[in-house]
Amino acid sequence: AALAPVPRPLAGRHVLVTAGPTHEPIDPVRYIANRSSGKQGFAIAGALAALGARVTLVAGPVTLATPAGVDRVDVETAREMAAAVDAALPADVAVLVAAVADWRAEAPAGQKIKKGADTPTLTLAENPDILAGLARSDRRPSLLIGFAAETEHVIDHARAKLARKGCDWIVANDVSGNVMGGALNRVHIITADGVETWDEAPKDAVARKLAERISDAL
Ligand code: CTP
Ligand code: CA
Repeated sequence: AALAPVPRPLAGRHVLVTAGPTHEPIDPVRYIANRSSGKQGFAIAGALAALGARVTLVAGPVTLATPAGVDRVDVETAREMAAAVDAALPADVAVLVAAVADWRAEAPAGQKIKKGADTPTLTLAENPDILAGLARSDRRPSLLIGFAAETEHVIDHARAKLARKGCDWIVANDVSGNVMGGALNRVHIITADGVETWDEAPKDAVARKLAERISDAL
């Protein structure tokens, strides 16, 4: 018997996904980073590709396999991630899942800093905000989705972030428990229409549900 064709509702669409942390060098052997396994972002990229989208995944340093059907661009720093996002435009949808380091060392040392009598002081510079920049850009994707990892007041912080960033949805997760690096996630979808709380589920199930929601919204 012939199999029914797999529905590909996102065929012809280009979706940009960022995932993982960024690493900001202090010297050749040390860096500043956020805790992020990249699992949720990679699962989202794979779920969008499974629905037929052309997916560009801009990935920070993680040890994950590239999901089937996904074009991957590896980057290290926030500024490299911003440049790779810019180079991947235009996109119909962008889902920015990456845990971008908010600050970088202003002047990374060219050689390993040696331990000595004085403890070094690190001067930081703020990194570009990729999501806010995309929201303001003349190549803004028509559906722009940010993530928010919060440890308290999850929904209030996420609502404020939606307004501040100028994106269409914020997917908020409570990372006060074991979410970071774990297999399960519990998220709230915050839009101009309100808040929807999803049951805790494996990250790939959250990814499939989000991909379907994106497909319905286009
Ligand atoms: N983000 C980004 N570029 C940055 C920082 C964040 O694109 N330099 C994106 C993240 O990928 C995420 C969203 O913005 O989609 C929210 O990130 P978050 O760190 O929660 O927001 P911040 O504005 O940096 O606020 P906070 O002070 O809570 O870190
Ligand atoms: Ca941040």
